[in-house]
Amino acid sequence: MIDQYNRVIDYLRLSVTDHCNMNCCYCRPEGECFQRKQASEVLSLEEYYELCTCFAQLGITKIKVTGGEPLVRPGVISLMRRIKMIPGIKKVTLTTNGLKLSEAAEELSQAKIDGINVSLDSFSPACFSQITGVKDGKKALEKILSGMEQVIRLGIPLKINTVFMKGRNEEELDSFVQMVKKWPVSVRFIEMMPIGEGIRFPTVSGEEILRRLRLMEGELTVFHKTLGNGPAVYYTAEGWKGQIGLIRAVTEPFCRSCNRIRMTADGKLRLCLAYEQGIDLAAMYRKGMSREEIKTEIQKAVFQKPASHPFDQWRKTGRETEGRDMWQIGG
Ligand code: 5AD
Repeated sequence: MIDQYNRVIDYLRLSVTDHCNMNCCYCRPEGECFQRKQASEVLSLEEYYELCTCFAQLGITKIKVTGGEPLVRPGVISLMRRIKMIPGIKKVTLTTNGLKLSEAAEELSQAKIDGINVSLDSFSPACFSQITGVKDGKKALEKILSGMEQVIRLGIPLKINTVFMKGRNEEELDSFVQMVKKWPVSVRFIEMMPIGEGIRFPTVSGEEILRRLRLMEGELTVFHKTLGNGPAVYYTAEGWKGQIGLIRAVTEPFCRSCNRIRMTADGKLRLCLAYEQGIDLAAMYRKGMSREEIKTEIQKAVFQKPASHPFDQWRKTGRETEGRDMWQIGG
């Protein structure tokens, strides 16, 4: 699909649930004040499959499964396996917090999943607990790390997503560097975006992380966009097995080359992280619209994809994203 700014849209992020077994401080409001969707509002696995078929016919080639935490949704791996077999779909990947990864790794490998991103912000049990709300941080970290080791052993490409917050986990850069020295993984640092709770946490810019990395490691080799089709710029150095990526979503937005759209767990198509604007695909499907009619609506909506997000501006003025929070969008 092509939008009004001539961007090719071929990447769909699919949120399969708004439930999560963590409660990260920058993702979900505290306590139980957030309203999860009723089961009846959330798309069934069959509805996901059907809508993905429409997307594939419109030129979507890559689908990332997100949440909430996608691995808490029963049947998600068989859904991924089925989506992978839809003609036109080249890549199906997963973003997870890793808590259930070791149980799922084998099945994910059998489903021929093309890549896994684990969100991990800290290696320190106390800090991890503070960020995620998980009580036994030590045990959780052990589980996540063993899941990641399995993923590597099974040969599934692994990326780690990390968000640094001032005064919290930013001192742990060295632990992440140790990880890419030891393991063939990409660690990507994402600048905190002013989405929902994110606005409350001052972030560390990609530029600053690069400065600290160079102080620690000396000369780095840069290579652009050779891993996946994401917006990260990657760096590596002598003796590293993996690489470090910077995703400067706030300070250097990559909207001009944005190729992605999103669908939330209740079947709303979302055209940009920052705006609610989109269409209700669940409603269209449920009222019996044909595949061709739904495809026409998707195409019309995608054409209207906003030019860019104003995150940099919003961080400065304290304004946050419209509508949904990250746990409802899926990153
Ligand atoms: N800004 C940047 N990244 C975020 N994530 C969640 N909320 C934000 C935010 N406000 C990240 C998570 C996860 C990925 C899906 O998105 O840490 O790695």
